[in-house]
Amino acid sequence: MKIAGRVSIDDEFWRGRRVLVTGHTGFKGAWLSLWLQLLGADVTGLSRGVPTQPSLYELARVGAGMQELSVDVRDAGGVRDAVRAASPEVVLHLAAQPLVRRSLREPALTYEVNVIGTANVLDTVRLDAPQARAVVVVTSDKCYENPRAGTPRRFVEGDALGGHDPYSSSKACAELVTAAYRDSCFISEGAPKLATARAGNVIGGGDWGEDRLVADAVRAVEEGAVLRVRNPGAVRPWQHVLSPLAGYLLLAQALAGERGEQAARAWNFGPAAGEEQPVSAVLERLAKLWEGELSWELDAAANPPEASHLALDSSAAERELAWSPACGLEQALELVVDWHRAHRAGRDVREVSVAQIEALAPG
Ligand SMILES: NC(=O)c1ccc[n+]([C@@H]2O[C@H](COP(=O)([O-])OP(=O)(O)OC[C@H]3O[C@@H](n4cnc5c(N)ncnc54)[C@H](O)[C@@H]3O)[C@@H](O)[C@H]2O)c1
Repeated sequence: MKIAGRVSIDDEFWRGRRVLVTGHTGFKGAWLSLWLQLLGADVTGLSRGVPTQPSLYELARVGAGMQELSVDVRDAGGVRDAVRAASPEVVLHLAAQPLVRRSLREPALTYEVNVIGTANVLDTVRLDAPQARAVVVVTSDKCYENPRAGTPRRFVEGDALGGHDPYSSSKACAELVTAAYRDSCFISEGAPKLATARAGNVIGGGDWGEDRLVADAVRAVEEGAVLRVRNPGAVRPWQHVLSPLAGYLLLAQALAGERGEQAARAWNFGPAAGEEQPVSAVLERLAKLWEGELSWELDAAANPPEASHLALDSSAAERELAWSPACGLEQALELVVDWHRAHRAGRDVREVSVAQIEALAPG
């Protein structure tokens, strides 16, 4: 496959670097841990169980190349022991309850994991990780106040935080918690630099998460079922999972560098302007790529309100971190279908995943 955009990561920086990835058993965490292993980092993962069955984490044997700790981020003592054991120089905090619908069923749990969990991680970095240089807290493009209907715009980092549902609001809270730690608790000379990363609607092989369009499409194809779609007109900033992950790596490099102070802020990582597409366009393209195996219909059941148009302005990351999307939507969808075809054909998906990382981010 021809790859348009390419990201360049400093492998010198990562080789031998002690990195703590929270949420390493999840979809994004597994891709990130695999990538860090390829870069030669000394990776420790902290998670509570494996969120899906099957999972990229298990199929690609991600745990085999790293230390792993089974800890609930709500347990401050457990997080402290884990951070002491890992002695990280870089912390990439992804562990979360990431599902909007589950947040409607279990709002308090969502706040505990996403807000208190973030505070626990930051607190122990403050107290127990004097060697830490960079912390990236992963929030979401959903952390912004919902735009009024009919006023679509691309969010910039200075826009108001908000979110109607508990998940979105918990990610806005995690933004505020991180900003408060940065501005009040991490101000001494040599303190680690903190940043947040806002990205969303990531797609890639190996996602079996609940209520995610491409994951639902994969399930429908695997089960020979008709996909039921809630909001075919909703426009989203779809991007390949390796795009924001490259952003997290570049951001950590910048935070740990001489001018880390300037990177210690919030960053958007979204697709290039004009690449946002409605759900229906993504499905039409996937249906073509799957050559008739995917069909879908409108789900008329009552659904939670969702923003009709979500788009991010990532020009700050492009300008100041030299980040750009790893590939466009068309290629991202091809990579997803290639990955799942390989999985169904019984190929080793660790090899497939490594090949996709190497194609998008050559060493
Ligand atoms: N996938 C997306 O489209 C998307 C979009 C925006 C933001 N995000 C954010 O990216 C991050 C990763 O998302 P994902 O899609 O990989 O999610 P995921 O559900 O696949 O993985 C979640 C990870 O968090 C861990 N975890 C959950 N609860 C925990 C707890 N109490 N203690 C310790 N670990 C716990 C799980 O074990 C798993 O490793 C999350 O912070 C999520 O909010 C994801």
